[in-house]
Amino acid sequence: MRALTTEEFDPFIEGLDYPVFVVTASSGEEADGCLVGFATQASIDPPRLLVCLSVANRTFRVAQGTEFLAVHVLAADQHGLAEHFGGETGDEVDKLAGVPWHPGPDGVPLLDDLPRYVVGRVLSRTPFGDHVGHLLEPVSESVDSSEQALTLQDADDITAGHPA
Ligand SMILES: Cc1cc2nc3c(=O)[nH]c(=O)nc-3n(C[C@H](O)[C@H](O)[C@H](O)COP(=O)(O)O)c2cc1C
Repeated sequence: MRALTTEEFDPFIEGLDYPVFVVTASSGEEADGCLVGFATQASIDPPRLLVCLSVANRTFRVAQGTEFLAVHVLAADQHGLAEHFGGETGDEVDKLAGVPWHPGPDGVPLLDDLPRYVVGRVLSRTPFGDHVGHLLEPVSESVDSSEQALTLQDADDITAGHPA
């Protein structure tokens, strides 16, 4: 059987909902972060998180070779931050200059306005197509809030800073 085209597959995906995250990375020389919808828990025991970064994104380039990524949950009322990290690219603006953050393990940016986060060690990088899956082993977390998370459908009005 032939593989479906993107257009043929779209109706299956259309309208489905799941949380979006801000994923940050630091190479030591450069740091960046972007909005990510393609992220999910991938194992219960041991705990694992799969984060997919578009090869078009500066965050992907910064994340190559890094040991850690930080994955932040957005609260439902933080659409502005989603727009900042998802609608702008670090190729044009320094997104981290506009928001308070502090360095975590190996300098990975931890965003002060997004206190629900997990830092993960990158165990493997797997090419999936136009995104690369980063399998993370959680090493530290902070969960100050159990507020409703911002979702893909909440963010569907944002035009990505980099077309995938
Ligand atoms: C709703 C939404 C979901 C997105 N999901 C992803 C994703 O799963 N992975 C990814 O790499 N980029 C995703 N993006 C795109 C990036 O967040 C966007 O292109 C960003 O501007 C890239 O910034 P950068 O070049 O500084 O890394 C998404 C954007 C939006 C608006």
